[in-house]
Amino acid sequence: MKFPLDKGAPFYVAGHTGMVGSAIIAELKKQCFKNLITIPSSELDLRNRDGVFGFLGTVKPKYAIVAAAKVGGILANDTYPANFLSDNLQIQVNLMDAASSV
Ligand SMILES: NC(=O)c1ccc[n+]([C@@H]2O[C@H](COP(=O)([O-])OP(=O)(O)OC[C@H]3O[C@@H](n4cnc5c(N)ncnc54)[C@H](OP(=O)(O)O)[C@@H]3O)[C@@H](O)[C@H]2O)c1
Repeated sequence: MKFPLDKGAPFYVAGHTGMVGSAIIAELKKQCFKNLITIPSSELDLRNRDGVFGFLGTVKPKYAIVAAAKVGGILANDTYPANFLSDNLQIQVNLMDAASSV
């Protein structure tokens, strides 16, 4: 990634509705990034590999930040560790592979 970033280039933030993602969006807006791309989880489940490739292939972001994750408290993580790990690995790998292919 080259700095300074191009503030007009398509910039995808995954997980924009979450605590971290919404703060990132607010900061990028404050810094005058003009082409922020988001999509709600109701429209794209990031565990869906084909869906992620289709979406990123269409919007072709120049930059991407991943703040999407299945997040739970200590009890939920302790009770369903494989479920949390699996979902989050799928989200990360799908986004990384799709982003590197556009
Ligand atoms: N919060 C903190 O203080 C903190 C500190 C350091 C690191 N982190 C890390 O930052 C990441 C996000 O944490 P957070 O606190 O912002 O979590 P959060 O508030 O629960 O937000 C998670 C985001 O991910 C989206 N998401 C979850 N599963 C998805 C899926 N299958 N497909 C598409 N979108 C999905 C959610 O969309 P929906 O709302 O539509 O479900 C939401 O936008 C995690 O990896 C966390 O460990 C958090």
